[in-house]
Amino acid sequence: MQLKLKLTVVAAIAAVAGMASAQEQVVKIGHVAPVSGAQAHYGKDNENGARMAIEVLNAEGVTIGGKKIKFELQAEDDAADPKQGTAAAQKLCDSKVAGVVGHLNSGTTIPASKVYNDCGIPMVTGAATNPNLTKPGYKTTFRIIANDNALGGGLAAYAADTLKLKTVAIIDDRTAYGQGVANVFKAIASEKGMKVVDEQFTTDKATDFMAILTAIKSKNPDAIFFGGMDPQAGPMLRQMEQLGMANVKYFGGDGVCTSEIAKLAAGAKTLGNVICAEGGASLAKMPGGMAWKAKYDAKYPGQFQVYSPYTYDATMLLVDAMKRANSVDPKVYTAEIGKSNFKGVTANIAFEPTGEMKNPAITLYVYKDGKKTPL
Ligand code: ALA
Repeated sequence: MQLKLKLTVVAAIAAVAGMASAQEQVVKIGHVAPVSGAQAHYGKDNENGARMAIEVLNAEGVTIGGKKIKFELQAEDDAADPKQGTAAAQKLCDSKVAGVVGHLNSGTTIPASKVYNDCGIPMVTGAATNPNLTKPGYKTTFRIIANDNALGGGLAAYAADTLKLKTVAIIDDRTAYGQGVANVFKAIASEKGMKVVDEQFTTDKATDFMAILTAIKSKNPDAIFFGGMDPQAGPMLRQMEQLGMANVKYFGGDGVCTSEIAKLAAGAKTLGNVICAEGGASLAKMPGGMAWKAKYDAKYPGQFQVYSPYTYDATMLLVDAMKRANSVDPKVYTAEIGKSNFKGVTANIAFEPTGEMKNPAITLYVYKDGKKTPL
């Protein structure tokens, strides 16, 4: 008798639980960045930001279209490689994710943006900065940071107008990002009267720059601009020190503006010559930056690099658009992304018709005692 009663209670609980899960819908959000290879530290930081947002959303409980939504992150690795980038994008299309946060590198994001447009899924990047990303005019492409026109231009203005530097040598890593940001810097610096005394090229895999630095040293420039990422910039700074280029300023975009570069430069004093630019406000000037960073550090100690607050906001922004559309269907809610007026951790986010962010900030940084510090 007692056993029968117990079984009935268990059955009743199971029925209620079953009803609850019938009302719950799993919605997948994709994230893509390099989480393997030399750029894995950037990718993990970005992925952490998106994961944090998913956890907050699930803890708060989101209801859309009358259903309780359980968000799941489908995180993919593109290893900063354009081919792997499009493969990851196709995988997310096939998995029918509702939206994508990423990618990190312009070289992967630009080709992937076509894949997402073809399968009708919106993507929001909080890291890829090449202006060409928004040129095709896809209604599925959004960027929530400043692009390289702002970063390269801001750095060139600082070099020419504030520091009054006269000569610069330019190096880029031949990726969409490195080449793009170097071209913008070169154009604006030249317009402002700086002389480009040398141009050298490397790759996003190289670590030995002695030959190109020796060539540059013979031209005696006031500064080097490097279009590329920190796995190259760190060793390059070390090798500049070895070659006695201790007084040469070192400019770079967001790709060199990481915490990791201080480690990769391995004590080289030339780290103190770095001036880099990031496509948003400093953490202290973001609406919710410092409180957010404290939560991030508690969860992911020592992993902060550059763009995790933006991948956090990108995830939240997608869900905000779903809520306004009352739908998780990309065909229905994508149009709402463009109409966003979203109060994020990083900024109040609204878009131009192109998918570029309206009025994004940029911040220049230097390294003081090895620590990245806003200028
Ligand atoms: N901003 C860098 C890029 O676009 C990370 O590749």
